[in-house]
Amino acid sequence: MRLTVIGTGYLGAVHAACMADIGHEVLGVDIDADKIRALADGRPPFFEPGLRQILTRNIGSGRLRFTTSLREAAEFGDVHFVCVGTPQQRDSLAADLRHVDAVIDALAPHLRRPCLIVGKSTVPVGTTERLAARLTELLPDASAVEVAWNPEFLREGYAVHDTLQPDRLVTGVVSSHADEVLRAVYAPMLEAGVPYISTDPATAELVKVAANSFLATKISFINAMAEVCDASGADVVTLADAIGHDTRIGRRFLSAGLGFGGGCLPKDIRAFTARARELGVDRAVAFLREVDEINMRQRRRTVDIARELAGGTFTGRRVAVLGATFKPNSDDVRDSPSLAVAAAIHREGAEVCLHDPEGVDNARAVLPALRYSPDVSTACQDACLVLHLTEWSQYRKLDPVALAAVVRTPNVLDARNGLDAELWRSAGWTVRALGRPT
Ligand code: UGA
Repeated sequence: MRLTVIGTGYLGAVHAACMADIGHEVLGVDIDADKIRALADGRPPFFEPGLRQILTRNIGSGRLRFTTSLREAAEFGDVHFVCVGTPQQRDSLAADLRHVDAVIDALAPHLRRPCLIVGKSTVPVGTTERLAARLTELLPDASAVEVAWNPEFLREGYAVHDTLQPDRLVTGVVSSHADEVLRAVYAPMLEAGVPYISTDPATAELVKVAANSFLATKISFINAMAEVCDASGADVVTLADAIGHDTRIGRRFLSAGLGFGGGCLPKDIRAFTARARELGVDRAVAFLREVDEINMRQRRRTVDIARELAGGTFTGRRVAVLGATFKPNSDDVRDSPSLAVAAAIHREGAEVCLHDPEGVDNARAVLPALRYSPDVSTACQDACLVLHLTEWSQYRKLDPVALAAVVRTPNVLDARNGLDAELWRSAGWTVRALGRPT
């Protein structure tokens, strides 16, 4: 089939490459000419394990091309996947849909033949219906163009795996024709047994925000337990292990610590709250405001504990920060809890030296006033405190004996519960963690 993928950010670039990899002819489209040039050269504009290989392979086979022209896309595609960003609005909790709307408005005048427009971006419930109505206004014969929604559930760091071997596929359609087209797009995955849920657009849109809301709630639940553990001397890691054995609960997404960040979970729960208010069901999801509040509190708690470990003040203190990205295996620093903490202690007068395996360039663009170090040892030089804020696997393998020799004071705050506390203590470190006894 001939597919276009409009918007080649995180979601779109991976989707385009993976759709080509399962045998489709794919045209990736973006208004950013630099990004398109990089992708056409097989260079992903962000760090994602496995993406470069899959891009190169499919560009080489001729199945994957890139363009900045929506006219070319309209002429080429039977199916147009819309993968543009839906960030939080600057002055409200709601999602900013201007990129989605702009794609529909810019694509419509070029549509000359029947096609299916399939949204993949995370949007407020009701968006598919609204866009379909907009196309009816814009097109002389809107019956030839249908809109469907097909939310994406990929995780950064596992994006290629999650796209090629998803837990499930969810499509929201209004006609059996659209259903048949999407089943054909995903035929190799259906044959491999991936569960396929075909439903109406409103349900499909909601599945996505419900899934992210549940994940965010799970994280904030365990972080709330971490606060109770801190107040009572209990251990949140053992607690999570113990409740996680109950298969109804499950251990995944029960890692207590600095909380969730990134370009999805925080803005999605806020946008859901805003949309629920519009729908008059504010109370139904009021708990999400608490989920958000618990999450943001972990950042403040981390700063408070860090200040205590630094001797009551950050002024004139050198602090090493390990990790800048919102999670490991990513270079993404959007709404990164680590960077928020680093910025806060820097504002309070600390001299912050930051290390991250992949995120330094992006972090520097946001926080140019911090110092950055290419290796952990230099970042820790003369530090009175080391903060472990993103749980890159290489930090777990650090040698606490060697690091103790370079710091001024061997104090470490493990805000991701990822270090072997006993090992560090036996090397002379004072170790604090969130929700764990000292
Ligand atoms: C999330 C969802 O997991 C994906 O299913 C979804 O497709 C994606 O959002 C999206 O909407 O596009 P992602 O943002 O890549 O994926 O990251 P996650 O792996 O979900 O992690 C989110 C945050 O939660 C990270 O900051 C991570 O450190 C934190 N987290 C995760 C915890 O604090 N504790 C945990 O136990 C798990």
